[in-house]
Amino acid sequence: MDVRDAVATRYSCRAFLPTPVPQTIVRDILECAARAPSGGNLQPWLVHVVAGERLEALKAILRPRFAAELPRGEGAEYDVYPPDLKEPYYSRRARVGNQLYASIGIPREDRPGRYRQFSRNYLFYDAPVGIFVFMDRSMGPPQWSDVGGFIQNIMLLARAHGLHTCPQEAWTNWHKTLTPFLKLSPEHILFCGIALGFADEDAPINRWRSEREGVEAFARFEGFAAPEPRS
Ligand SMILES: Cc1cc2nc3c(=O)[nH]c(=O)nc-3n(C[C@H](O)[C@H](O)[C@H](O)COP(=O)(O)O)c2cc1C
Repeated sequence: MDVRDAVATRYSCRAFLPTPVPQTIVRDILECAARAPSGGNLQPWLVHVVAGERLEALKAILRPRFAAELPRGEGAEYDVYPPDLKEPYYSRRARVGNQLYASIGIPREDRPGRYRQFSRNYLFYDAPVGIFVFMDRSMGPPQWSDVGGFIQNIMLLARAHGLHTCPQEAWTNWHKTLTPFLKLSPEHILFCGIALGFADEDAPINRWRSEREGVEAFARFEGFAAPEPRS
């Protein structure tokens, strides 16, 4: 698969098959993903991968809690979005949310239904592998951006193995439970989880695609020769 196909076929997969993913493949993905550039070559990413019994143990801790006690978890450790999301960002976020819930027949006003679906984040959408990505707390916006490039590499490399992913900031809502469970150092901050596995291609939640603005909406070009007229 070439890079263009990997980019074009990646999407946030929210229903996975139980088919296991061997550790060798996950290692290979991480080894190659770490070729991501980072300012000063700090390589600020840290990763914790869980599968099998460990993943089931984590889900067993969380399942009763998000079902009854804390549908939104224990509280985020960082602002996932700016507090007053302005336009056009607010509308883009609302649009993708509406598309997602419409794909599985959950109406806008069905808040419990939306919560139930959102809570599936904490089962890694049934993926057989969960990757937690964190970094040293002393890191600033440039290093968070470096980690973004690293996670994008993971998601694209997964495609080369026929795998799909979902990046998940939702996991910040369980950082208090995850820190002791994963034995994370208090010096480290969890950025996100990444669900990894084989997509359930038939699941309705995987059968739609998010939209993008055209290049004109976000880019300007200066100084180029005029494009050749198309024949
Ligand atoms: C850093 C990051 C965190 C995200 N967190 C979540 C999440 O917690 N749960 C989820 O279902 N999707 C999450 N997403 C997926 C976005 O909603 C998705 O990327 C966006 O709507 C575009 O859709 P696409 O990935 O299918 O192209 C996250 C994406 C990124 C890049």
